[in-house]
Amino acid sequence: MEYEILKTEGRAKRARVSTVHGEIQTPVFMNVGTVAAIKGAVSTMDLKEIHTQVELSNTYHLHVRTGDKLIKQFGGLHKFMNWDRPILTDSGGFQVFSLAGMRKIKEEGVYFQSHIDGHRIFMGPEESMQIQSNLGSTIAMAFDECPSSVADRSYIINSVERTTRWLARCKTEMARLNSLEDTINPHQLLFGINQGGVYEDIRIEHAKRISEMDLDGYAVGGLAVGESHEEMYRILDAVVPYLPKNKPTYLMGVGTPANILEGVDRGIDFFDCVYPSRNGRHGHVYTKHGKLNLFNARYELDSRPIEEGCQCPACRAYSRAYIRHLLKAKEMLGMRLCVLHNLYFYNNLMTEIRESIDNGCFAEYKKNMLESMAAGPQ
Ligand code: GUN
Ligand code: ZN
Repeated sequence: MEYEILKTEGRAKRARVSTVHGEIQTPVFMNVGTVAAIKGAVSTMDLKEIHTQVELSNTYHLHVRTGDKLIKQFGGLHKFMNWDRPILTDSGGFQVFSLAGMRKIKEEGVYFQSHIDGHRIFMGPEESMQIQSNLGSTIAMAFDECPSSVADRSYIINSVERTTRWLARCKTEMARLNSLEDTINPHQLLFGINQGGVYEDIRIEHAKRISEMDLDGYAVGGLAVGESHEEMYRILDAVVPYLPKNKPTYLMGVGTPANILEGVDRGIDFFDCVYPSRNGRHGHVYTKHGKLNLFNARYELDSRPIEEGCQCPACRAYSRAYIRHLLKAKEMLGMRLCVLHNLYFYNNLMTEIRESIDNGCFAEYKKNMLESMAAGPQ
């Protein structure tokens, strides 16, 4: 992997990551396809049309349904889902904590019950790396614990120390798996994850520890789990300066367009979030003048596209009135068009962010976008 910073403006970085599955231009928004599919009947051909750079899938979900061994037999996730560009897989850490039934955290890993059929599963750092290796993703995430937003300081300290020990085990296991003869992607990359709740000192100490471990990239996890936006920005202000400058940074599970603009301003390269696809499935669509709810009666006879000038497949062909009708009739096409528009909106936001950093006017772009989105629909 190569990470080249092309331009900076303040702390904002414009960079290029070269991987075996092609280049990633950052800042980038990864499109979330939890079970190797973007919810809303979006195909990988669609993803190319809406300028998706990186697809994100989940270790936990693919392990409990269909299974990573089967996907390896098929030749890996890229071949399975017919996507030849970069894929990032989340480690399962977060999903086990947010989804699984009864779970027990031990030094060796986590014992939990599948959310599909309740059967007992164990996942530790080695298992997570083995699953991600079977999937053959471009970037694998370290197996971490994402503590609850209300966990107290002493819980967080113990949890973060265990996450650091897990990270060392992830690195060792990844190196072993990458050197095996039948491995799907021998160049699989490993990103570490910073934790520490809302405690700046724990975050910084952890950032220093993991920075010494020479990983391919560094994520900030455990945010957007209930704390305020201001708290999240305060943590980013504190911790990002302690992560290696010459490696990509990734803010996990974030967020709104405003969160992304603020994250870029604090040095983040990678983002991912379910908002655009989840909101799209509910008829909530993003525009530069805020979010619209297409179920609203005011769009009944609105012949305009969702957003004037948008080049997405929905806006190039259909009116708000027609998409509203599809949504009300519960036609799958309605959802699909909204999801395509929303993902295009996010991908295009990132393109504009990159161009603004290239042109030295990110600060101005950010200010204008935040104002225009906050002003609401015209
Ligand atoms: N996705 C959002 N937050 C997190 C986190 O803290 N850890 C992991 N592994 N994934 C996440
Ligand atoms: Zn559109």
